[in-house]
Amino acid sequence: MTAESFTVIGNWKMYKTSRQATDYIEALLPLIENTKVNVYLAVPYTSIHSAAQVAKETPLQIGAQNMNDAREGAFTGEIAGLMLKEAGASFVLLGHSERRHVFKEGDELIHKKVIRALQDDIQPVLCIGETLAHHGKGKTQEVIQEQLSTALQGIPKEEASKVVIAYEPVWAIGSGQTPTVEQIQKTHAFIRAVLGELFGERVGKKIPILYGGSVKPENVFEIASAKDVNGVLVGGASLDPQTFASIIQNIVGGASKKRVTRKKKEKTT
Ligand code: PGA
Repeated sequence: MTAESFTVIGNWKMYKTSRQATDYIEALLPLIENTKVNVYLAVPYTSIHSAAQVAKETPLQIGAQNMNDAREGAFTGEIAGLMLKEAGASFVLLGHSERRHVFKEGDELIHKKVIRALQDDIQPVLCIGETLAHHGKGKTQEVIQEQLSTALQGIPKEEASKVVIAYEPVWAIGSGQTPTVEQIQKTHAFIRAVLGELFGERVGKKIPILYGGSVKPENVFEIASAKDVNGVLVGGASLDPQTFASIIQNIVGGASKKRVTRKKKEKTT
């Protein structure tokens, strides 16, 4: 994922067995054959291997939705980055709002996970976003600044350029509500500025910033046309291959003002 190309990530959450995953991918691939958009799917752990097998030799990338911050160890029930990588994951979502709010993950732990993902050579997609209460109090930028500076503290510039940011207002996830495109652009520009402060303007510009929260075929064109939106993270609307393919097709219209190029798929082990 780069800021020059346009990316769409589907986040399946805790949906689809391994068999359902491969059926889905077989249905999706012909629908997105000629797209110039980078397409990624964050699937449940148990589907990573089978999904990666079906996606092999195609531009589709498979990733995970979470990982542990340790390399390995006595952590019953946890999954390490190296395991994900070997199973075929090339990226991992970290700090998704459901991890933060349902499983009580804090910025410090998410920071450790980002570091570990970079060490294990899995591209981290750091999810950030404010709650409705913070939004209502006009604290969006304050919250985002804190989430970014804690999660990305101490990361060297050359490593920082491998990170992807997904801005997902908590109140927009699964709710059907989205901020206006002006609000999205304003927040993305702010994120870009914070990244510039942390890593310098050159690296800040390289880091892709995705928007997530109630993205669907009907609104993706407008969202994608915002200057600092480099892609979208899609939950509910990624569960059906036809709907997900419509999102991918509709993005191109909105993103066509930008350079929409597909990067050659990097080989994963
Ligand atoms: P949604 O979820 O598209 O269903 O709002 C987005 C997400 O949780 O990443």
